[in-house]
Amino acid sequence: SRIISPRNVKSAQGVLRHFSLSAQRDARVAVLGASGGIGQPLSLLLKENPRVTELALYDVVNTPGVAADLSHISTKAKVTAFSGEKELKHAVKDAEIVLIPAGVPRKPGMTRDDLFNTNAGIVRDLAKVCAKICPDAMLCIITNPVNSTVPIASEVYKQEGVYNHKKIFGVTTLDVVRSNTFIAEAKGLDVNQVYCPVVGGHSGVTIVPLISQCTPPVSFPAEEREKLTRRIQNAGTEVVEAKAGGGSATLSMAYAAARFANSLMEAMSGESGIVECAYVFSGDADTKYFSTPLLLGPNGVAKNLGLSQINEYEHDLVKEAIPELESNVQKGEDFIHKDD
Ligand code: NAI
Repeated sequence: SRIISPRNVKSAQGVLRHFSLSAQRDARVAVLGASGGIGQPLSLLLKENPRVTELALYDVVNTPGVAADLSHISTKAKVTAFSGEKELKHAVKDAEIVLIPAGVPRKPGMTRDDLFNTNAGIVRDLAKVCAKICPDAMLCIITNPVNSTVPIASEVYKQEGVYNHKKIFGVTTLDVVRSNTFIAEAKGLDVNQVYCPVVGGHSGVTIVPLISQCTPPVSFPAEEREKLTRRIQNAGTEVVEAKAGGGSATLSMAYAAARFANSLMEAMSGESGIVECAYVFSGDADTKYFSTPLLLGPNGVAKNLGLSQINEYEHDLVKEAIPELESNVQKGEDFIHKDD
């Protein structure tokens, strides 16, 4: 069994407060879908990150305006704008980290899987260009359904002969951010000291918070634990309903993706002990793609820390997640191979 060390609490803290300037290394980052609800605040947070030297913004619309606006901010990152398919290859040239929030979000009543038909093709096409132009970059996929879009990108990279599963991530950081917030609220804790890993996938029952692994240790009566778990699983829907047709989580998602990107940059700078949960290829038969705590290093996943010691309740949640995950992964892979 593996223990989540207190060092990880550091990576659970706010992205804006813990920039460590030691061992700083410059980073070139591209955002694909940069004009959207997530893309704009994410680009703002990246522009504010002192590690980012070049910030390339790509979208099918509106990037010149977003880039002009951000470029007036007095921070180091040089902002460039790229629009339309023809410019995509220029946007990702030399990128070390590519963040993808391109695609349509949910409206009330929709599941993440309902987005598949539109978003699968978008991720496939973006991944194809990344595989050709910046195959060594860390590819961070935010576009839903993440459970399927990560297998889609992975199959594209395989077709292009450049697949490295250590560098393709489904961004599930928002599930961890939400868990930390809700647990801190419930227990009256300082949220900056709370870290609760979330494993599985990124939709409904596939989201499995490991409350038994929380730092500091917390426990809840069974009924309260069940309520909290279901709230974490459905937190995205809480936002979709509150926005009443205006989209899904954008600001909290931007915060979460900026934090994940910052952790990658720290790890790429050679900082040790950087751990984040993300949805990656795990290689296990029944959980081929699975989110777990990952030790990050200069080349992406340095070590998959696995599930550690989960309790019976969490074990049942994982069991509930697996059939849904398997079918989401299959759907993604079939999408790429339908014409084989
Ligand atoms: P949005 O509609 O506000 O923005 C999407 C942007 O993507 C738009 O600017 C659009 O022009 C652009 N786009 C569309 N097709 C494109 C293409 N082929 N190339 C480049 N850009 C393209 O949507 P929002 O709210 O920013 O959400 C984006 C995605 O993120 C959705 O799929 C949503 O479900 C997902 N999401 C994921 C979360 C996670 O935890 N991983 C959390 C919240 C949302």
